[in-house]
Amino acid sequence: MQTKIWAHRGASACAPDNTMPAFELAVKMKAEGIEIDAHLSGDGVPVLCHDEMLDNVSDGTGRVRDYTVEELRKLNFNRTHPEYGKVQIVTLEEFYIFAKRSGIFVNTEIKYYDSGKWEELNAVCLKTAEKTGMADSIIYSSFNHRWLSELKRKNPAAKIGLLYSDYIEKPWLLAKEFNADALHPWYSRIFEQDMVSQCRKYGIMVNPWTIDHPAEIEKLIGQKVNAIITNKPELALKIRDGIR
Ligand code: G3P
Ligand code: MG
Repeated sequence: MQTKIWAHRGASACAPDNTMPAFELAVKMKAEGIEIDAHLSGDGVPVLCHDEMLDNVSDGTGRVRDYTVEELRKLNFNRTHPEYGKVQIVTLEEFYIFAKRSGIFVNTEIKYYDSGKWEELNAVCLKTAEKTGMADSIIYSSFNHRWLSELKRKNPAAKIGLLYSDYIEKPWLLAKEFNADALHPWYSRIFEQDMVSQCRKYGIMVNPWTIDHPAEIEKLIGQKVNAIITNKPELALKIRDGIR
């Protein structure tokens, strides 16, 4: 099995994260997957943005969920890479249409959402996947494992991966408890508890994040994790494919 390379928020080391330039670059670099962060706009449209707040990524202020999608479209999401000029927010549907056309796998992260709308976000993500023909090419992840297991209960065919960063004793058992297909740990967790071989025994995939340092990428490929989630897909692909 060859470790897949997934672009974290797109090729986000080189372009504004969760935007079309970063996604297009990831495809151009030949990443095999793209990780995205999904929120709901104020009018219930799933949109891509890492932060719950707009301030660090755009010229807007306040929360994503306090704006309608049309208001969000007027903002410029180039803050981390101003050289890109005007960069619009991307809806989940627009992204899935692009992903389908590109034949790329997707990791949709359901973000923290403290206003009780997670069920709505789950439902609309599943609906958008069906509508765009992407349902079989997605794994959902979240730090909220209960939300994820509910998503799986509603749609048993959906794949889910539990995100976590702190130490968990025998996390493969947690994966089983939540009926998860994968674990998505912060990458240092991979080197504890004989992680990969234990997960293999239980049929759990292992997709760590976020690995950008060449030595760490190499070590994780050596561990035969299923996928590496990186801001630098081009570098990771070169290392994996032996092109220095
Ligand atoms: O899905 C991996 C990683 O994206 C989780 O953390 O904060 O970058 O969304 P974050
Ligand atoms: Mg994420």
